Amino acid sequence: DLVALQEAFDRKLKNEIRIEPKDWMPDAYRKTLIRQISQHAHSEIVGMLPEGNWITRAPNLRRKAVLLAKVQDEAGHGQYLYSAMETLGFSREQSIDDLHSGKAKYSSIFNYPTLTWADMGAVGWLVDGAAIMNQVPLCRTSYGPYARAMVRVCKEESFHQRQGYEIMCTLMKGTEAQKAMAQDALNRFWWPSLMMFGPSDAESTHTQQSIDWKIKRHTNDELRQMFVNASVPQAELIGLTIPDPDLKWNEARGEYDFGAIDWEEFKQVVSGNGPCNAERIAARVKAKENGMWVREAAMAHAEKKKIKKAS
Ligand code: ACO
Repeated sequence: DLVALQEAFDRKLKNEIRIEPKDWMPDAYRKTLIRQISQHAHSEIVGMLPEGNWITRAPNLRRKAVLLAKVQDEAGHGQYLYSAMETLGFSREQSIDDLHSGKAKYSSIFNYPTLTWADMGAVGWLVDGAAIMNQVPLCRTSYGPYARAMVRVCKEESFHQRQGYEIMCTLMKGTEAQKAMAQDALNRFWWPSLMMFGPSDAESTHTQQSIDWKIKRHTNDELRQMFVNASVPQAELIGLTIPDPDLKWNEARGEYDFGAIDWEEFKQVVSGNGPCNAERIAARVKAKENGMWVREAAMAHAEKKKIKKAS
């Protein structure tokens, strides 16, 4: 009966035993996971666009090969995540339709343009850096398929973060113009990267329940603070300035204090009014339409093979 099922579920959570696809789970737990994992998958897929923008203009062959590999990794992450979501009984087609109709969310960060080559450095360093901060604890999330997907994703993200930081290091050893380009990229990506962690804990609708279910292991503000603490010394090391006049080391807390986030900008970007929202969705819709003939051909081929096998 329901009480016994709920008790078994609670016991598993308490004992850090993963919940698996065929296990009973509360409806709201399932819905929360479908929401979070699908948003996460969409972010990986839409996240290919800002960097895909620079593949044809990478400054040399090595940079091009690395960037291409990195963007392909993001596609793979999207695939793992859609598969993890499907184990919860929600279809990939529906989920992608929801993205294309504007019903589903994806990370705010991917609605900002990538204007210069230095943005490839800033995105790898900060955006993938923020992603790792958020996703390493998700390797211990309570839903088995999501946790297992995160292990490989985090290994790849860590390579992405390093390639981005290495681009920044190279630019900061270059000409004055190259240094200025790196600083400008940091100026534009710093605040949007802090917004990736989501609303403040006081404003976050889902955090408490997700922590109780051990889906989330830290709050949004905790992870944001950890990201600031890790990133400031990396910026200083190579001579970059974090664009925050209120940023300072707090000896008593043993952490950095930082300035106020522009939550109005966050709200606008999340609700579809960021600089590139319309462009991003249009690109995904176009990709689906342009790939239709491939899917149709693959289905027709599979159908023919089935008939041949049966006869
Ligand atoms: N961009 C867009 N939407 C956001 C963002 C953001 N940066 N942060 C929060 N939101 C949305 C939430 O999805 C939620 O929307 P909903 O209720 O319509 O579903 C709403 O704002 C309220 O936020 P929270 O209550 O804090 O939501 P939640 O508990 O889900 O926490 C978080 C948000 C931290 C992003 C969480 O979902 C998470 O850890 N997701 C997995 C990681 C992920 O998706 N990363 C994507 C970027 S990294 C990458 O793809 C490379």
